[in-house]
Amino acid sequence: MSEEIFEPYEKLIEIEVLGRRIMVPENNSILRGMQFVEMESVSYGDLCWNGECLNCRVVLKDDNGKEKTVIACRTDAEPGMTVISVSDEIADALGENFSTSEPSDRRRSTTP
Ligand code: FES
Repeated sequence: MSEEIFEPYEKLIEIEVLGRRIMVPENNSILRGMQFVEMESVSYGDLCWNGECLNCRVVLKDDNGKEKTVIACRTDAEPGMTVISVSDEIADALGENFSTSEPSDRRRSTTP
C-alpha cells in the first residue's frame, strides 16, 4: 500500500482517538488518519470509504464537552480533535490493542 492513498499533505497533526494520541496526515479524513496509524488492519476493515456503509461512525467531543457523531471517511481530521467512541467496525479495524497501547506522547497528557 503506498502513500498515494492519502491526499497530499505536508505535515502530521495530532488527534486523540479512544484516549490515545496519534499523529495523522493533515488534509485527510479521520479514517485515513486511522489507516495511517494502523495501515494493515484498517485497509482491510469492513468499510466502503465512500460515505455509503456508515460503518465508520465515530463520536467527537469538542472543547465544550459537546458530542457529535460523524462518519470518519467524510470528515477531515483537525488538530486537537478528540474521538471518544467508534463503531464496532472501526473498533475491529483498529484492533483490540489500539486503545490500550502506549499513547504516542505521554508528556502531553493532562496532569493536575
Ligand atoms: S467507510 Fe463507509 S461510510 Fe465511511
